[in-house]
Amino acid sequence: MTRLQFDKTFSLFSLSEILQKSNSNRKVRKVLERFFCSKNRDLEDFLHNRALTFEKHLRARTYLYIDNETKEVAGYFTITISTLHTNGVSREVVKLLDGYKDDTPSIPCYLIGQLGKSGKYESFKIGKYILHDTITIIDNAQLSLGGRFILLDAINKKQLIEFYKNNAFFPIENDDDLESIKMIRPYFSHKIVSTSPKR
Ligand SMILES: CC(C)(COP(=O)(O)OP(=O)(O)OC[C@H]1O[C@@H](n2cnc3c(N)ncnc32)[C@H](O)[C@@H]1OP(=O)(O)O)[C@@H](O)C(=O)NCCC(=O)NCCS
Repeated sequence: MTRLQFDKTFSLFSLSEILQKSNSNRKVRKVLERFFCSKNRDLEDFLHNRALTFEKHLRARTYLYIDNETKEVAGYFTITISTLHTNGVSREVVKLLDGYKDDTPSIPCYLIGQLGKSGKYESFKIGKYILHDTITIIDNAQLSLGGRFILLDAINKKQLIEFYKNNAFFPIENDDDLESIKMIRPYFSHKIVSTSPKR
């Protein structure tokens, strides 16, 4: 699917915007509950059970792709401000991430908490467009606020690590036994020596 086809097929809304326009939270919840993703049950569970609470309590912002024909949620992402705890990260990398100190215990950052598409659209190669839109929204915040990097926890599977690497994310952990790997997308220009997981 091309970007043009993607933009014609789906519309992007923030969950806050949908809640403001809708006269019934129950209806919104029902739409969210129809989202399914057998590849990643946490992605499904977040949208069913936590997204509305996180939105109302300003803990994060969720953005939804709505299929223009069926009005179903085709994909979504959730972003927020966060902190990277640096225990387990090498001093060299901590210094790059922090900017000038190599012993900082935590560093503020932007977080992609959730990102994915519904199982119904499994054969549509649309992940890169979803990730691109996610980064664009964070880029706009970063222009006004500063901030050194975007963080995400990628499921520790070769295909997913590659998906994020193709979009300028670098792993900052390296352990085959971890369920997820922290990856960052820097705004600073120093080159990070990739610590890609051994396979
Ligand atoms: C990640 C995602 C957005 C990428 O979408 P895409 O670029 O359109 O590409 P695909 O869906 O074909 O996924 C790329 C590959 O990753 C694999 N993959 C995707 N999510 C996976 C998961 N949760 N667990 C294991 N493998 C996964 C796919 O099977 C595919 O493998 P293949 O190339 O061998 O067929 C999409 O696959 C998705 O929504 N996955 C489920 C949710 C998820 O796991 N999100 C990432 C959390 S870190």
